Amino acid sequence: MLDAALDRALDLTIAPGYSRVGYELRRRSWPGGGADLPQMEGRTVLVTGATAGIGRAAAERFAGLGARTLLLARSAERGERARAEIAAATGNPDVAVVLGDLGSLGSIREAVARITEHEAALHVLVNNAGVMAPERTLSADGIELTFATNVLGTFALTEGLLPLMRSSAPARIVTVSSGGMYGQKLDLGDLQTERAEYAPAAVYARTKRAQVLLTQEWAVALAGTGVVAHAMHPGWADTPGVRDSLPRFHRVLGPALRTPEQGADTIVWLGAAAEPGRSSGGFWHDRRRRPVNLLPTTRAKPGDGARLVAECRGLVG
Ligand SMILES: NC(=O)c1ccc[n+]([C@@H]2O[C@H](COP(=O)([O-])OP(=O)(O)OC[C@H]3O[C@@H](n4cnc5c(N)ncnc54)[C@H](OP(=O)(O)O)[C@@H]3O)[C@@H](O)[C@H]2O)c1
Repeated sequence: MLDAALDRALDLTIAPGYSRVGYELRRRSWPGGGADLPQMEGRTVLVTGATAGIGRAAAERFAGLGARTLLLARSAERGERARAEIAAATGNPDVAVVLGDLGSLGSIREAVARITEHEAALHVLVNNAGVMAPERTLSADGIELTFATNVLGTFALTEGLLPLMRSSAPARIVTVSSGGMYGQKLDLGDLQTERAEYAPAAVYARTKRAQVLLTQEWAVALAGTGVVAHAMHPGWADTPGVRDSLPRFHRVLGPALRTPEQGADTIVWLGAAAEPGRSSGGFWHDRRRRPVNLLPTTRAKPGDGARLVAECRGLVG
């Protein structure tokens, strides 16, 4: 492994660690330069947000490892395009689209029903899709859209698929958070930003912190079932989402950004490699466990995770 002190220095100085420099340095110490992942024939993987960016790259790599790869997409046309491209690029014909919009609870309920009816098993669920709405907008269910998509849709999909995952154990939930969460504390009294000013990056970061808290709750609730839950952050990758939502950041960082494949690497490692199957509730970046807080002010209080789950259950109904 890369010397632990150097790895931690990369992490704490943020820009070098989150950029492609951090990935390239760390990759050198991984077996096979990172190309060492076990084959996944006989495993079924579902990736949300698989039509673009990091999710698209993760889905292609899972398919390349031989997994039956399900792409959750809100657009039939973009889903079909991704499916055809991934099948052609990997030579794996076992790639399918499941329609589902994470911003709509009804749509996710239908997606869960279809998956449960048609799939014999689900071994890896990758909660990758995420948005940063530029202004406070309501979902079809009347819920603030960034929270509705990143937290509530993810929660509804995961909880809905848990019976199938339990019966498929060993199985893994991998949720894609963001390093941006390090700067924010979750406000359980204002999950939908009804009182605080709607600052897109801060709201997004709080939803990313909520995802990590949910992951820790799933890890506890699922202990002993053979289903593990991990969260990760991909660093900074050049994706349509970053280009559209953070154009200035995208211009300034430019060539230092990771490729989507580099951003997706730890997602696929968490889904495929042996090591992450032996623990649960971790927060990972570049194949190494990372702290959940860098600032004392962002720490959750005991009971916050259970409260978040209760709030989500109440909203999902
Ligand atoms: N890129 C980075 O540097 C970075 C850094 C930190 C964290 N992340 C996290 O990594 C994940 C992927 O980011 P990205 O940059 O690859 O994003 P992206 O380029 O914006 O792609 C997002 C994907 O999610 C899908 N999606 C969005 N809303 C959806 C919804 N309501 N229902 C279903 N699918 C939906 C999009 O589908 P459509 O084709 O329909 O739009 C697209 O496939 C996100 O969770 C993000 O927060 C990214």
